[in-house]
Amino acid sequence: MIQVEEKRFEFGKNWHNFIQKNFDAEKVQTSKRHILEFMGRANLDGLTVLDIGCGSGLHSIAMLDAGAARVDGFDYDADSIRASKFVQAQVDNPANWTAEQGSVLDDPYVAKLPLYDLVYSWGVLHHTGEVWHAIQNAASRVKLGGLFYIALYSADVQKDPTPEFWLDVKRKYVASGWLRRRLMDGWYIWRFQMNRNPLMLPAFLWRMREYKKNRGMNIFTDIRDWLGGWPMEFVYDKEATDFVEKLGFKLEKIATGEANTEFLFVRIS
Ligand SMILES: C[S@@+](CC[C@H](N)C(=O)[O-])C[C@H]1O[C@@H](n2cnc3c(N)ncnc32)[C@H](O)[C@@H]1O
Repeated sequence: MIQVEEKRFEFGKNWHNFIQKNFDAEKVQTSKRHILEFMGRANLDGLTVLDIGCGSGLHSIAMLDAGAARVDGFDYDADSIRASKFVQAQVDNPANWTAEQGSVLDDPYVAKLPLYDLVYSWGVLHHTGEVWHAIQNAASRVKLGGLFYIALYSADVQKDPTPEFWLDVKRKYVASGWLRRRLMDGWYIWRFQMNRNPLMLPAFLWRMREYKKNRGMNIFTDIRDWLGGWPMEFVYDKEATDFVEKLGFKLEKIATGEANTEFLFVRIS
């Protein structure tokens, strides 16, 4: 558990800006493809889904489009819910999709939720300030035989610079105003995307264009989310697997090597 300082990153504002400017059918299809490919399924026909930390709402609509019977989403940040509601309005407010404000760390709130065939929480639980508590609460909403699909920032891939370096950057970013944040965005692109080499600019521009193929997201939204994403904890893949297996799950699939490790578990007891 880490101390959650007064100031948190305004994830919801970032998502709301992103989705208002970028929502389109192609992004929904990209997100749907990513989810189905990772899960090794052709569709989510008939599944009830809980989307914890639903952010922009893009992945909720992608799961509905993949055939989910219903999707209930919640997010700590009121602006994320505004973003989800914006997406809902673009697709005629489906009756089988809800989005509300709530925290995965709020035990009474979580305990009142029904059990689901699929609990999905991508890039969320390590941003709560209490990652293990968050994982445990999220897992508690999975039916017996149901699926638990989570993505967590991996301590295994974050060697150089170290997790401590990034935690320090994130603290500075959330404490900064608009101008300093834009300077830090530029610093990050120069140092980590272009390797301090102006000749890398075309490669960065290419990556920027290609990036939307990655879950339907936008590179600048994700850079701001990465630099500002606070609170934040890095988790070793094995530590996460062992923890969830002890809660009565079996690991079905893992995808490593990216900043977020993706895990698919099935509840067996
Ligand atoms: C990196 S974003 C991921 C959003 C989305 N799942 C995606 O994949 O695009 C993290 C999200 O977790 C939400 N979040 C942070 N703490 C939370 C909590 N305690 N309960 C629910 N959501 C939370 C943030 O507001 C934010 O929308």
